[in-house]
Amino acid sequence: MREIRVDLAAIVENYRSLKALCAPAQVMAIVKANAYGHGQIEVARALQDAGVDALGVADLAEAFTLRLAGIESRVMCWILNPTDDFALAVEQKIELGVSSFEVLEKALATNSPILHIKVDTGLGRNGFAESEWEQVFEALSGKSVGIFSHLANTSTEDDLEQQRQFEQAIELANSFGVKITQRHLSASAGALQYPQMRYDMVRCGIAVYGLNPFEDRGIEEYSLRPAMRVSARVANVKRVPAGQGVSYGYRYVTENETNLALVPFGYFEGIPRVSVGAKVLIAGEQYPVVGRVAMDQFVVDVGADQVVIGDEVVIFGDAAKGEPTAEALGESSGSINYEIVTRIGGRAQRVFE
Ligand SMILES: Cc1ncc(COP(=O)(O)O)c(C=O)c1O
Repeated sequence: MREIRVDLAAIVENYRSLKALCAPAQVMAIVKANAYGHGQIEVARALQDAGVDALGVADLAEAFTLRLAGIESRVMCWILNPTDDFALAVEQKIELGVSSFEVLEKALATNSPILHIKVDTGLGRNGFAESEWEQVFEALSGKSVGIFSHLANTSTEDDLEQQRQFEQAIELANSFGVKITQRHLSASAGALQYPQMRYDMVRCGIAVYGLNPFEDRGIEEYSLRPAMRVSARVANVKRVPAGQGVSYGYRYVTENETNLALVPFGYFEGIPRVSVGAKVLIAGEQYPVVGRVAMDQFVVDVGADQVVIGDEVVIFGDAAKGEPTAEALGESSGSINYEIVTRIGGRAQRVFE
């Protein structure tokens, strides 16, 4: 009735395309948040089999899950808390992204094997503030660590300013005798658009899944294709007169006599409740989602067309195949493809191919 089809071969091919584009930089594939909704273990296994350079997740729980599933690739995580199990992180060979003195103290006390120091170069989120850099590099004098930061993707000018800051942090670390083993700044957007910002490694999430990291341009020039295709089967069809209100609050009222198709995919499955102008594909035609999306279902106005119960409804997939995109669904709700794919789930089953 509801299906999330994940094309693991597409993920591996996208990864290889990114490797080719960014060489000689390494490519860390980001598999946090259930691999952006694509299925963390299955995706990690496929990437490991393809020889992934490293995997990235947000926290230690996600990292341990990978190890428990037998993933032996390099794994790094970067949202840490001083109360985390650093001893287990050492045992499991998890690389740690460090953003605070509290975590640094714990990591050093447990001899964590590989640390990556995160410097805040302007995103204003995680990472040591510039005012703390001297102190942190002094504490690490003579030690080997990675150094990384994350771009805000606000404008080219802002990104370049962050890169200048990143260079300054590297210089400062060098001046304190810190041995920098790996430098990484760019996620998907930076990796694709700024060759000079690839350093020793890039950390790609959304692009590995074949989706667009940009809000103002396409990615047709890169060899990437979406790995997720979400579909459901029509559960009901009815002919209604003009003036029929549709779904809660009657946000849509039919103008003419028309056919309405009911799709059993609701906001529990991750479709935004308000999806203004979203379209789905049924039998080769795109039709609008109308009225409010409910917990279990939404309605499509198919006009005079004959749609029957059991017809496949593609909610999003690959634009190259005429399917609606996660990007468009995101736009229809004031959101982005990242949020759409990571939230997809509910009662829908993942099928891997
Ligand atoms: C530190 C860090 N690096 C890399 C990524 C991957 O970003 P993207 O999916 O835009 O490639 C993320 C994701 O948010 C991140 O937090």
